[in-house]
Amino acid sequence: MKTVIYRQYGAPAETVEVIDVETGAPGPGQVLLHDILAPINPADLNTIEGKYPVRYPLPSTPGIEGVGRVAQVGPDVTDLKPGMAVLLPHAYGTWREGGIVEAAKLLPIPEGVPYAEAAMIKVNPASAWRMLHDYVAPQPGAWVIQNAANSGVGRAVIGIAKKIGLRTVNLVRRPELIEELTAAGGDVVLLDNADALEEIKTRTDRAKIMLGLNSVGGESATRVASALAHGGKMLTFGAMSRRPLLLPTGLLIFKDIQILGFWMTNWYQKASEAERNAMFGDLFELAKTGVFKTPVEKVYPVEEIRQAVTHALQGSRGGKILIGKA
Ligand SMILES: NC(=O)c1ccc[n+]([C@@H]2O[C@H](COP(=O)([O-])OP(=O)(O)OC[C@H]3O[C@@H](n4cnc5c(N)ncnc54)[C@H](OP(=O)(O)O)[C@@H]3O)[C@@H](O)[C@H]2O)c1
Repeated sequence: MKTVIYRQYGAPAETVEVIDVETGAPGPGQVLLHDILAPINPADLNTIEGKYPVRYPLPSTPGIEGVGRVAQVGPDVTDLKPGMAVLLPHAYGTWREGGIVEAAKLLPIPEGVPYAEAAMIKVNPASAWRMLHDYVAPQPGAWVIQNAANSGVGRAVIGIAKKIGLRTVNLVRRPELIEELTAAGGDVVLLDNADALEEIKTRTDRAKIMLGLNSVGGESATRVASALAHGGKMLTFGAMSRRPLLLPTGLLIFKDIQILGFWMTNWYQKASEAERNAMFGDLFELAKTGVFKTPVEKVYPVEEIRQAVTHALQGSRGGKILIGKA
């Protein structure tokens, strides 16, 4: 099976390579998976660069999340059958055609959930779900503001927020996204620039926005924090601009804005199996009914991994880059 590896940390396009791995047949408690489909997430690229807080023993196969199809089951595996689609275990190293996995670590994907959507569900929609539920109790009609609103997370935030009765202010850095995200359900979609704050007041009728989601940093984070009402919370979960947060002191002293971080990995580490499965059950249902849809710009076969990571590192994409069979 063609498998991506990196032997040292560095620029992804120069560091990743493809090797052939002989998988053999699954042993007791194991499953052989084929047709693995996995996204290239920013965290995967940061991991290869050696800039992510988690490091795996080298050589390592990248890929935090993905899906596979059961090809063969080990002698004592009774609950999984060939042909079933399953969610792969966290940080399995999903950038590969197939492989052997412990059956107990696989979660079957219900019929009707789009395969590509399931491949991307564990990181971005799960983060959107947690951030919208765990920090400010969702009240019908309440507003949430986010930047990089066209990202995988951002689109899931728009869909899930609408489903649970929240309204969204969405900041983007390209004008052509305004119409697209409005059509996708964004209530207010604005360019992420100096005019945005006044426009937000007008378009939300000066609503008290209590939750802000920041994955950009720099002045964009300043805008998200400044749009919040007294006592509001800004969750920072990414730094796409690679710039630090810029926060006027007055926001903390006089507006009591709370600046918090969010890392999905923390939640997975603390959650029980029942809590994880309950969230996946909810997310699968939303994916099945099209509540969130993550656009895919291109699917690359494993052997084209260098072109794939180069593409994933480009801005202004129309969607995610996946590794697998188109
Ligand atoms: N903390 C966590 O647990 C967690 C979980 C999930 C995701 N994340 C983080 O969330 C962020 C988004 O992830 P994703 O997979 O949703 O991203 P994605 O779908 O790949 O989209 C990337 C987004 O970043 C924007 N962007 C790229 N370069 C930028 C720059 N220099 N300045 C401002 N915006 C820029 C893009 O805008 P254009 O389309 O205009 O280029 C796009 O909106 C990443 O930082 C990721 O690591 C964190």
